[in-house]
Amino acid sequence: MAHVPEIDVLVIGSGLAGAAAALAAARQGARVVMITKTDRPEEGNTWYAQGGIIYHGANDSPERLTADILAAGAGLSDPAAAGLLAREGPRLVKEVLIEQAGVPFDVDGAGGLDLTSEAAHSVARIAHYKDATGRAIESSMLARLGREPGATVLCRRTAVDLLTLSHHSRNPLDVYAPPTCVGAYVFDQETRRVETILAKETILATGGLGRVYLHTTNPAGACGDGVAMAYRAGARCLNMQFVQFHPTTLYHAGERFLISESLRGEGARLVDPAGREFMKDYHPDGSLAPRDIVARGIHQMMHETGAECAFLDITHRPSAWIRERFPQIYARCLEAGIDITTDRIPVVPAAHYSCGGIAVDDRGRTSIARLRAAGEVSCTGLHGANRLASTSLLECLVWGTRAGEDAGRAAITRPSDYTVPDVAPWQYETEPVDPALLAQDWLTIRQTMWNYVGLVRSRRRLERAHQILRELHMEIGRFYARSELSDELIGLRNGVQTSLAVLLAAMEARESRGCHYRVD
Ligand code: FAD
Ligand code: SIN
Repeated sequence: MAHVPEIDVLVIGSGLAGAAAALAAARQGARVVMITKTDRPEEGNTWYAQGGIIYHGANDSPERLTADILAAGAGLSDPAAAGLLAREGPRLVKEVLIEQAGVPFDVDGAGGLDLTSEAAHSVARIAHYKDATGRAIESSMLARLGREPGATVLCRRTAVDLLTLSHHSRNPLDVYAPPTCVGAYVFDQETRRVETILAKETILATGGLGRVYLHTTNPAGACGDGVAMAYRAGARCLNMQFVQFHPTTLYHAGERFLISESLRGEGARLVDPAGREFMKDYHPDGSLAPRDIVARGIHQMMHETGAECAFLDITHRPSAWIRERFPQIYARCLEAGIDITTDRIPVVPAAHYSCGGIAVDDRGRTSIARLRAAGEVSCTGLHGANRLASTSLLECLVWGTRAGEDAGRAAITRPSDYTVPDVAPWQYETEPVDPALLAQDWLTIRQTMWNYVGLVRSRRRLERAHQILRELHMEIGRFYARSELSDELIGLRNGVQTSLAVLLAAMEARESRGCHYRVD
């Protein structure tokens, strides 16, 4: 029996992809529930986005944007996905973000949007709100969603597993039905109970996986939950080996605060400790080469010179302009004792973005019926082997909107298509979790991924990682099966599963391409 009423569309994740999907489904008249595991719906990768979102530059065209995406993707971007984003994206920025949600993008002196540039873009086409674009978009979208009567947002709810007919129905004959998702088991962090949420359509929008690495730009929750749930449910995943490392994160203490690529778009120079623009050695576009090439160039320079980091230098621009254009970066660096108007910024690469994920079509449909995915958790084929800067937020908007519209429309126009299965209730376990085990397992995962499945890979490193992660995966599985459920335990189980997915894809892909680089 269901513990909550059946709903039309369940959206798991409240970042831009989830919010766009929920809004689009609700606007179709569907009853939508959007859940997030965090305390506040804003928390997630979207909130931290800095540089901006692609719009439409002067002399720009869908063909030109498509060509830039394909060039950055190292020959593996799907031209159909790139073309779709290029044709639909700018219109949706205008209609959904600006007109419906009222995102306060920065404007230029003539009242048009202030468009900036980033690496591998052939024209300035990136709309932004100072250096905190994600906050502006996320808070405006959540406020807009709050005005939709059919949409409900629930925080502190962690999806544990997708419910499928073959895995969870108590009717043994359901194993013969095509793979079908009917909702999710969801852990309520307040009551510590697991709800069986049945939905006509489910959309996964759980974001990225940066937190399986030791050093990352991603916030705490980004540990690959969606990919792990999809894997266990049997959904097809693609391109998991392509984890993008952002070239420039602040090299300070343990954290890796992002120093936006838009600094380089606005003229910052990337130099070695001696002040030389070393990126010209690796690519004619120098500091503005595609991201994978810049990240490896920094790594190589550090390896060859013994330097601890590279430096970004924007001191040639007027101080007042820097403080106004990059207030967040200015303030954060100042806390670390660096005044970016007068000092060079020490930077190193860190894990940033998953180009692969759950394989989806142009409406976000996965290989499992009634399950869609959108945003960073998905693989639309757009990013190929390396993502072009600022395409991610636009992909969330385009595919989130399309998935939400499609799911909402299906749920309300074909209600007789949906069966409500009898799903087995959750089996509770009671053994307390030892936090020391959780902490050590996470450290092992993160160090293994950083050292052996990182920016530069080799057969020996991958094999070593395989030994470690395979064993750990089994051990965590045993531990999970007898322990009292918690958000932390769910995250750990998913973290090791997703790390293995990245690793196995990396072991299979022998050719160096884009973000997957093998020294051997
Ligand atoms: P998220 O915004 O990460 O949202 C995921 C949601 O899923 C969260 O609500 C989370 O709580 C929830 N969730 C996860 N697991 C569960 C679970 N088990 N149960 C319930 N809820 C769950 N891209 C650009 O295009 N331009 C930029 O300028 C840019 N800057 C960036 C800067 C930083 C520092 C970072 C980290 C990324 C940046 N990116 C940028 C990438 C971009 O921000 C992300 O790819 C994008 O925001 C992902 O959105 P999403 O909706 O897919 O996921
Ligand atoms: C940045 O501002 O450098 C991040 C942009 C992105 O990840 O697309």
